[in-house]
Amino acid sequence: MQHILEELERRRALARAGGGERRIASQHAKGKLTARERIDLLLDEGSFEEFDMFVEHRSHDFGMEAQRVPGDGVVTGWGTINGRLTYVFSKDFTVFGGSLSKAHAEKIVKVQEMAMRNGAPIIGLFDAGGARIQEGVDSLAGYADIFLQNVLASGVVPQISVIMGPCAGGDVYSPAITDFIFMVKDTAYMYVTGPDVVKTVINEDVSHEELGGYRVHALKSGVSDGAFDNDLEALTQVRRLIDFLPLNNRDPAPVRESFDDPDRNEHSLDTLVPANPNKPYDMKELILKVVDEADFFEISADYAKNIICGFARMDGQSVGIVANQPQVLAGVLDIDASRKAARFVRFCDAFGIPLLTFVDVPGFMPGTKQEQGGLIKHGAKLLFAFAEATVPKVTLITRKAYGGAFDVMSSKNIRGDLNYAWPTAEIAVMGPKQAVEIIFRADIGDPTRLAAREAEYKAHFANPFVAASHGYIDDVIMPHGTRRRIIRALASLKSKTLSNPWKKHDNIPL
Ligand code: HXC
Repeated sequence: MQHILEELERRRALARAGGGERRIASQHAKGKLTARERIDLLLDEGSFEEFDMFVEHRSHDFGMEAQRVPGDGVVTGWGTINGRLTYVFSKDFTVFGGSLSKAHAEKIVKVQEMAMRNGAPIIGLFDAGGARIQEGVDSLAGYADIFLQNVLASGVVPQISVIMGPCAGGDVYSPAITDFIFMVKDTAYMYVTGPDVVKTVINEDVSHEELGGYRVHALKSGVSDGAFDNDLEALTQVRRLIDFLPLNNRDPAPVRESFDDPDRNEHSLDTLVPANPNKPYDMKELILKVVDEADFFEISADYAKNIICGFARMDGQSVGIVANQPQVLAGVLDIDASRKAARFVRFCDAFGIPLLTFVDVPGFMPGTKQEQGGLIKHGAKLLFAFAEATVPKVTLITRKAYGGAFDVMSSKNIRGDLNYAWPTAEIAVMGPKQAVEIIFRADIGDPTRLAAREAEYKAHFANPFVAASHGYIDDVIMPHGTRRRIIRALASLKSKTLSNPWKKHDNIPL
């Protein structure tokens, strides 16, 4: 009997050794942890249960029959994050560069199916060279099996991808379908085709970093939802994010005990909005001052900074926050901001997370660049996302709510449940100057008359009371009492029921 137990231990040790000491040392020398070390940091201590540790590839080509490593380049299983069930797979770069064989794909599909069946998030840790070149089409088929599960799981369980090393070819499409992608600065890069292929096909010299580093994806392309300094920081932040999310689409958004007074007044908010309407202020200050314990998990913080998206808690209840940022491009809605926020709103709605929207928006970005880039369709994404959302929606207009952007930003008419405004709100078709120059075009040559017209327009619309008198705003509230009013609003919406007409699925302008 003893020798059977020892055989199990021997085999386990072999699997845990991955690609061997030399490759593990090389992994560490690059500032990267191993697949198992990462799982240990991600999950609660001692909670990891591994599956398929003894799975090997079945390839016989290119001498592969002589190179088999138990586990075959990916560690899969489940564990807990702060006590809540989570499935995980972690690519082992020390085994064939983490590349994907059919057997490796089957391991991932198994945990994807389990996550869906048992209603728990799935987190993928990526550090891999794409398709196992020696396996050819079997590898491609394996990827397709994973992509299919990603699509089926979308909106059913949260899916999170963390890019912690190279991520090429097939390994970028699976993350692209998931809800959030995070990267580790300086060690992670992701691209469909690497620098060598780029050179061959279009004769362009480009480094890994320039092609797919975090500066590309977290700052410019928006592919990544955030970048962290190292493996430890990335995994710690993913644990923090999971705490804000429900386990699945039938699970209510988490509520946890709050130690922050729900009636807390914040008098500094009474002077947050400057007297000069063209002067910016930091919308994040409002967010941090009203949410529980100033705890805000921002999504895509370095991309389309003119809109802020992220998770927080109000009296313990998880909420998704969308807010215009007057500090960047005056908080205007452009293509990038619309896409970023639309995706976030859809995530919250899919997972029953109430939406809290803070509005200070001068409108949509004008200009040829935006129009040629398809602003109409991209802007419509955000409108569509807010309109179709059936979760509780609380909106607060702090200052400008001009034009179409007023409608888009979770207005009453697209089923905002409770829409508030501060006394500093200005709700109008456009800013006073532009408005009078159109409707009183004949006065353009007469600056005194035009100024009088502008003052008249301002007096009429540069306040929330016209909108409130027409019922488009439910109440005008004191800035210092914002936290209390929002918490009460959310409490009143706890049992909200609303559903959309039956359809196979909608046709959001993609
Ligand atoms: C098999 C691979 C591999 C792969 C790396 N390795 N990629 N083995 N298939 N795709 C192995 C290497 O042979 C090496 O083995 C070990 O992993 C580490 O690789 P290195 O090249 O030494 O590491 P590094 O210098 O850090 O470079 C990492 C890398 C590079 C940038 C990822 O390996 C690379 O460019 N790989 C190929 C990437 C790629 O083009 N993949 C196919 C994409 S096409 P030893 O034994 O020496 O440790 C694709 C199609 C799917 O994925 C489409 C689905 C829709």
